[in-house]
Amino acid sequence: MSYDSIIGHRTMALDGVRNAAYQAALESIITPDSVVLDLGAGLGTLGMLAARLGARRVYLVEPSNVVSVTRELVHRNGLQARVRVLQGRIEDLELPEPVDVITSVMTGNFLLSEDLLPSLFHARDKYLKPGGRLLPSEAVMEVMPVSLPTYYAEHVACWQQPHLGLDFGAAQEAATNSIYWSRSKFAAATPLAPAQPLLHMDLDAAQSTHCRATTEFSLTTDGSLHGWLGWFRMQLGEAWLSTSPFEPLTHWGSAFLPLPQAQDGHAGDAAGFSLLRPPGGPWSWTEPHPHGRLRPRDPRRHGRRDLHQGDCLAAAGCAPGGGAG
Ligand SMILES: C[S@@+](CC[C@H](N)C(=O)[O-])C[C@H]1O[C@@H](n2cnc3c(N)ncnc32)[C@H](O)[C@@H]1O
Repeated sequence: MSYDSIIGHRTMALDGVRNAAYQAALESIITPDSVVLDLGAGLGTLGMLAARLGARRVYLVEPSNVVSVTRELVHRNGLQARVRVLQGRIEDLELPEPVDVITSVMTGNFLLSEDLLPSLFHARDKYLKPGGRLLPSEAVMEVMPVSLPTYYAEHVACWQQPHLGLDFGAAQEAATNSIYWSRSKFAAATPLAPAQPLLHMDLDAAQSTHCRATTEFSLTTDGSLHGWLGWFRMQLGEAWLSTSPFEPLTHWGSAFLPLPQAQDGHAGDAAGFSLLRPPGGPWSWTEPHPHGRLRPRDPRRHGRRDLHQGDCLAAAGCAPGGGAG
């Protein structure tokens, strides 16, 4: 799906939970002197909110052809005197002035998916005034070990069974090397331990989206471990918005990173999780000890899951519309 089409913008522009969080943050920082950049504006929802709150000038920067609709929306809402729509990538444009606020939705389903954050860093370094504000200003990737038997059986273990008398076992390796994305299905998961932060990004200062992060869990519940759920939360003004499947639903999906085999987990077992994801590159994640009870992490014995970007895109959710904001 392309950002050129209105279809990809519906779930973002009409995401009530997300919009309420951005609106509350904008209300707390916009003044009549504010100059605002809505980066990757899409239909311009956030920038138009800023203009309605009284911002002196708002720049909506959006490369896709959806800007023809955005321009119409700005006029219909009577905001054309203070809102300018600029079509292009932020890297290819020149804004006429520095800005006090950059609001953006450059966060993919698992924060780094879609690789839009480097464009935010570029805009921040080039246009944000000293003391200016970013919305969001911080983001944290979180992971949780889960039992997810029905979903796992349908999407991963299904390949173990012959179909039409044919052996599909080889497909299971590809299935376990894929990330699964869903907005709502993972709320059925049973957490085997509370979520842990995996990667923290201070968006005011971050320069890289390279991820090499590890977190350790002590299981708090007995159950079959099928893999990990991953999502992110971000700071908007004073508040935090979480895209966890256990929180009010937003348009973002969460990620399920499966194990090759379900493992018996017991309260008190240690389970380590590591994620490696170079900018724009494949996602790799480690699993706990592959035989028997979970144990403290031993890097020599841990398998590594490898996923190529193309697989991720095919798995839906990294792609525009299903992916970031
Ligand atoms: C996740 S969407 C957010 C759309 C809109 N802000 C919203 O919340 O509805 C990200 C947007 O960033 C735009 N985008 C992608 N790369 C960009 C770049 N280099 N500079 C500016 N915008 C970009 C995309 O076309 C897309 O519309």
